[in-house]
Amino acid sequence: MIVLGIETSCDETAAAVVDGERRVLAERLHSQVDDHRPFGGIVPEVAARAHLEILDGLVADVMAESGTGFADLDGVAATGGPGLIGGVIVGVMTAKAIAAVHDLPFLAVNHLEGHALSPRLVDDVPFPYLLLLVSGGHCQLLVVEGVGSYTRLGTTIDDALGEAFDKTAKMLGLGYPGGPAVERAAADGDPARFVLPRPMKGRPGCHFSFSGLKTAVRHAAEALPPGPLSERDVADLSAAFQMAAGDALVDRTVNAVREFGDRYPTGDTLVVAGGVAANAYLRSRLADIATSEGVRLVAPPQKLCTDNAAMIAWAGIERLRLGLVDTLDFAPRPRWPLDPDAAPVAFAGVKA
Ligand code: KG4
Ligand code: ZN
Repeated sequence: MIVLGIETSCDETAAAVVDGERRVLAERLHSQVDDHRPFGGIVPEVAARAHLEILDGLVADVMAESGTGFADLDGVAATGGPGLIGGVIVGVMTAKAIAAVHDLPFLAVNHLEGHALSPRLVDDVPFPYLLLLVSGGHCQLLVVEGVGSYTRLGTTIDDALGEAFDKTAKMLGLGYPGGPAVERAAADGDPARFVLPRPMKGRPGCHFSFSGLKTAVRHAAEALPPGPLSERDVADLSAAFQMAAGDALVDRTVNAVREFGDRYPTGDTLVVAGGVAANAYLRSRLADIATSEGVRLVAPPQKLCTDNAAMIAWAGIERLRLGLVDTLDFAPRPRWPLDPDAAPVAFAGVKA
């Protein structure tokens, strides 16, 4: 089974050809970071235009490199949402056109399902498993029971963790994207110099909150003597932020691991995915709790953790195997929760 996957939901344009034996036959990824850097964040219109310009070339490249003709494909999968609607439309229309012309099954993949199933592209990870999905747009703890079957244990009531990293980086003058920059700055910092809150720590349940932490960083920076922040200030604030975020993440995830264990006695795996999973400090904190809670931690390789098309193609393969094909009248979905039955959390601005 061979599937072409397309990802255009945020600021990465990506295409990949993957087969049922977990081989990534070819992949291309174009990051738009340089297009958005002057604006200090992602501009949806700029993103949509860039996807439109770049995607066809990437698809041609992966088809050629994989040695696959369109007629050899078993399906075409594209991210159908959630995400920035302009970009999602570009990817979905491209996939539909290929599927229509070559009479292939079309698969509209939920971007979150792409992340959720990504560990199965590299490892034998049986269902059910617990997934911590931490990226710029998402911050969730989910039980992955099977393809298309998810139970959300927790989500953020305000900012996603990657968003908090990005906003903190902006405040500290570290530029965009912020996560890697904060991690680098934190490496030389003293996390004890500034005292920051650990949002939600000690509370029951698995929901996250990061907006107060970000604000606390701003207050701490403003309390320093007037003038630009020194390199030391930036390093210490980054280290304090990262440690506080790690404490909050660990506290919430421990609750989720226990709830998962109670509900699914056979489940023994914690998967961490999403762009923030690239953070070595946070990964080591998660490795520690995996050991103390007696679960196996699986962290897919970094290029599979950030947005990519191989995970979309793989989710397409998993869906195709179950006959979960979509029709060409599928409408892109800017919002598309994995667990539609999850109780709404009691604050505004919740990320689904
Ligand atoms: O999964 P992703 O590529 O895109 C989505 O948001 O879906 O994640 C990007 C996010 C950004 O917020 C970025 O700052 C964060 O992941 N990130 C990191 C690191 N690398 C990327 N956050 C913390 N530490 C990192 N090393
Ligand atoms: Zn993502």
